Amino acid sequence: MSIFEDACDVREPLDVFDARRRVRQLCESIGFPKQAGRELELVASELCTNILKYGVRGNLRLRHIRDPRRGVGIEVVAQDEGPPFHDLSIALADGCDDRGPIDAAAFARRSGLGTGLGTIVRFTHALSVEQAPVGKRITVRRYASEPPPSPAER
Ligand SMILES: Nc1ncnc2c1ncn2[C@@H]1O[C@H](COP(=O)(O)OP(=O)(O)OP(=O)(O)O)[C@@H](O)[C@H]1O
Ligand SMILES: [Mg+2]
Repeated sequence: MSIFEDACDVREPLDVFDARRRVRQLCESIGFPKQAGRELELVASELCTNILKYGVRGNLRLRHIRDPRRGVGIEVVAQDEGPPFHDLSIALADGCDDRGPIDAAAFARRSGLGTGLGTIVRFTHALSVEQAPVGKRITVRRYASEPPPSPAER
């Protein structure tokens, strides 16, 4: 049996709904708190949308985890075939793409406000990015028993 409880391909917009449904099902099956589950659905949605926008195609994998200190949680791994982040720390900031602040004039031409990764950070306890031979893996973790850290605690 794979260590991942569930997985889905992300190749087209409808796959985002499938990913959200799988997150919801896993959360329900392990009794994850409702609010945390809703927030994790949003995280999955943002990861998938980014795969489609920048990562070309990829997949999402979901895993039920247990940390000796933090307790039960869910890990979401988003793998894609796209280019690396030019600068991850800039990309994580609201209103930025991966090179810097999004120009006001560009908002009309582009899709998105540059707040997806910031939302992911706000709703999770850990985020890491690993380069793969082709593409990359973004791994996030959310634990059930604690609220996500406030901006001051990060
Ligand atoms: N999977 C990815 N592969 C490569 N670059 C990415 C990926 N996800 C995000 N990025 C880069 O990081 C930037 C910030 O991503 P983020 O999700 O915060 O904003 P957005 O997708 O531009 O807009 P929004 O999510 O608000 O609709 C993106 O503009 C893009 O430059
Ligand atoms: Mg986004």
